[in-house]
Amino acid sequence: MNRWEKRKEHIESLKAICGEENVIVNEEVLLEYGSDHTEDLSFPPQVLVKPGDTQEVANVMKFAFENDIPVTPIGALTGLSGGALSIFGGIGLSLERMNKILKIDTENMQVTTQPAVITQVLQEEVAKLGLYYAPDPASRGTCTIGGNLAENSGGPRAVKYGVTKDFVLNLEVVLPNGEVIQTGANTLKNSTGYNLTQLIVGSEGTLGIITKAVLKLLPLPKQNLLMLVPFSSPIKACEAVAAIFNAGITPSALEFMERDAIDWTLDFVEEPPQLNIADHHQAHLLIEVDGNNQEVLFSDCEKIAEVVQNFEADEIMFADYEAQKEALWFLRRRVGEAVKANSIYKEEDTVVPRFELPKLLAGVKLIGEKYGFKSVCYGHAGDGNLHINIVKANMTDQQWKEDLPKGIRELFELTVKLGGTISGEHGIGYVQKSYMDIPFSPIELNLMKQIKQVFDPKGILNPGKIWE
Ligand code: LAC
Ligand code: ZN
Repeated sequence: MNRWEKRKEHIESLKAICGEENVIVNEEVLLEYGSDHTEDLSFPPQVLVKPGDTQEVANVMKFAFENDIPVTPIGALTGLSGGALSIFGGIGLSLERMNKILKIDTENMQVTTQPAVITQVLQEEVAKLGLYYAPDPASRGTCTIGGNLAENSGGPRAVKYGVTKDFVLNLEVVLPNGEVIQTGANTLKNSTGYNLTQLIVGSEGTLGIITKAVLKLLPLPKQNLLMLVPFSSPIKACEAVAAIFNAGITPSALEFMERDAIDWTLDFVEEPPQLNIADHHQAHLLIEVDGNNQEVLFSDCEKIAEVVQNFEADEIMFADYEAQKEALWFLRRRVGEAVKANSIYKEEDTVVPRFELPKLLAGVKLIGEKYGFKSVCYGHAGDGNLHINIVKANMTDQQWKEDLPKGIRELFELTVKLGGTISGEHGIGYVQKSYMDIPFSPIELNLMKQIKQVFDPKGILNPGKIWE
């Protein structure tokens, strides 16, 4: 049989598994499924399949395993490290039809969900019952729980409530050979064997395909206060971050935005909010506190106001109404898109222990000067998680191609020297894999590669991600 006949036969087999209409070879559609939010990369699959349940996912994997076909799991394609791109072609496996919340267990405060439920939808559904699912990536209106699990997403509320991993109790996972496993139990505690649940979370779709998740919920906090604090110096803004925690406050969000990040976003969004930004305001902290007792929250805000004065903060703007809060959060969530719209860019997702943040920011600017790149920084300062957007601006193509990777390497080396690592929430995926030798020794890398080998001996599941 020649390759074309074989391909035709493969497509027929996939149709038998998922149904005719759920196996797609239309070039335009494949192109759509070949890019996410990572730079301008394009790696379409050769065939797109949309299984409707766990059994169909398992059957697709079994078929791919037997025929040595690469499979790339695809969520909502909002990723920022290229994790869902079909870089070797093969089968793109979109979970989009598995988009049901299966059960909200109010007694145990848990939700059982399929992977393609949109994060914000899940948040809103549980909120109707007075429950809270905290992880809230900027893309929460379009990203899905499965993608969040694969990347171990965070977002602004992670600083108080934890990232996706902290909400996961149990997973149903299809292995690369088509076998189906449960990783744990629906319990808050579990000291039984190795922690397969947490091994799968953040494994970027390289070990198995998540087909069901049991997530922990919290009581929904009843109140919050939000303030925007301007600083003349970005470094001072970063210095204020650890001081706020050290004063005994745990904000429910503590976000940092450099001047350009705010300016570019104000230019980018329709109907931007009215903000009193003076020329000398070079950075802002967006700080939220939440809880159930308004008086405590006011006193927390007073304390924060006192602390930031020690770092030359200017007049604080409090968001008095829900609409103002929404406008500020809307602005913050759009920063990434605004930067992307402004220039060719590369986004890094460095994270350091919180107190080291000023050193990281200073280092980023110094390294930028050395290699001739401009950067716009923002991110989850309370977590020490700085999104560094390197913009191409006046760099020549050659500088962008040859000098920039050296600059990024230096930047990551600094991050690790400060006790941090090279991705806090976006993952390694396709774009950061050549830097894995910076945070890990050969022994550590080898251990991880052996884990991959155990799960996926043929290397068919999401190949070319995390590892070269
Ligand atoms: C954010 C995304 C880019 O924080 O992680 O906006
Ligand atoms: Zn982020």
